[in-house]
Amino acid sequence: MSTEAAAMRQAIRPDMPPDGPRAADLYARVKRVVPPVEWAVFEPDIDAILRLKRERNAVILAHNYQTPEIFNTVADIVGDSLALAREAADVDADVIVMCGVHFMAETAKLMNPGKTVLIPDLKAGCSLAESITGADVRALRVAHPGVPVVTYVNTSAEVKAESDICCTSGNAVAVVESLGADRVIFLPDEYLARNVAAQTGVEIIPWQGRCEVHERFVPADIETLRRDHPGIEVLAHPECDRSVVEVADFAGSTAEMARYVAERHPSRVALITECSMSDNVAVANPGVEFVRPCNLCPHMKRITLPRIRHALETMTAEVNIPVEVAERARRAVERMVAVGRGGPRA
Ligand code: 13P
Ligand code: SF4
Repeated sequence: MSTEAAAMRQAIRPDMPPDGPRAADLYARVKRVVPPVEWAVFEPDIDAILRLKRERNAVILAHNYQTPEIFNTVADIVGDSLALAREAADVDADVIVMCGVHFMAETAKLMNPGKTVLIPDLKAGCSLAESITGADVRALRVAHPGVPVVTYVNTSAEVKAESDICCTSGNAVAVVESLGADRVIFLPDEYLARNVAAQTGVEIIPWQGRCEVHERFVPADIETLRRDHPGIEVLAHPECDRSVVEVADFAGSTAEMARYVAERHPSRVALITECSMSDNVAVANPGVEFVRPCNLCPHMKRITLPRIRHALETMTAEVNIPVEVAERARRAVERMVAVGRGGPRA
């Protein structure tokens, strides 16, 4: 690992020695959310992954929805989709292992065409990414000539290649506003599109994609939480329906929710999002009580320690993108990265 990469890892994981810890050194981090009986099962894979990372000169990127034993022990870089896209561009290693879903691995490959990008399970998809194809985007452009296309990163490289610019939930408002247009086509998350429309003066033409995790939350979930847990602060992801976001105390990307908890230290909080999020934010905020109504993302949960170990042992599954698609998709991601930080708020 280069000096720069070691410094980056130290910045993110200040308690991790640059030459790497052993699993036994790491349990203290997760003991609040991982019982000893489970840790005993995880430990051999964690030790093997830490060794393989050094041997392969590999870096592990993990999304906030990864389980706590992945997120807090083997991952070098963690964050929301925006942070992972940004950090992927600066990785100084030969191999990137993406602990997240397929579109995230594709984005890492777009930002690092010369590096080997692995995903521990090729079947880790996303209901939003599966809701739209490049041909759908071309048809929308014919139906709405001259209207710019903003594409959520939760899409395939093929869809990104047909787009003017990408966005994440952490910068969607800033990206839409950066275009200075009266109307934009916003793909593929219908709910995020409506939440962004409510925060901008821009007319938004949505697609009918939905996140299968967030579409299941309803306003009654929040009413029940407030009734059963007086004083609770409720934070919702903007992939939830507008009616849910409207009754939440705050809405933002996974990183923005984590920042809210770290900065405001609510005594009691509920994160209306994927289940592992609360575990990971709880590890970093021991004084906060988390009430956990959540939905599991079956795609994120395909990534496990044994599969990460297998990916590094066999150097599979490699994610590659045809050059012609990659060049156009990269432009849309790079335009997004150039737009300053911003984000949805209720
Ligand atoms: P963010 O981490 O960008 O908020 O995205 C949430 C998500 O559902 C990713 O799949
Ligand atoms: Fe896709 Fe939703 Fe799972 Fe994120 S949580 S990967 S948006 S299905």
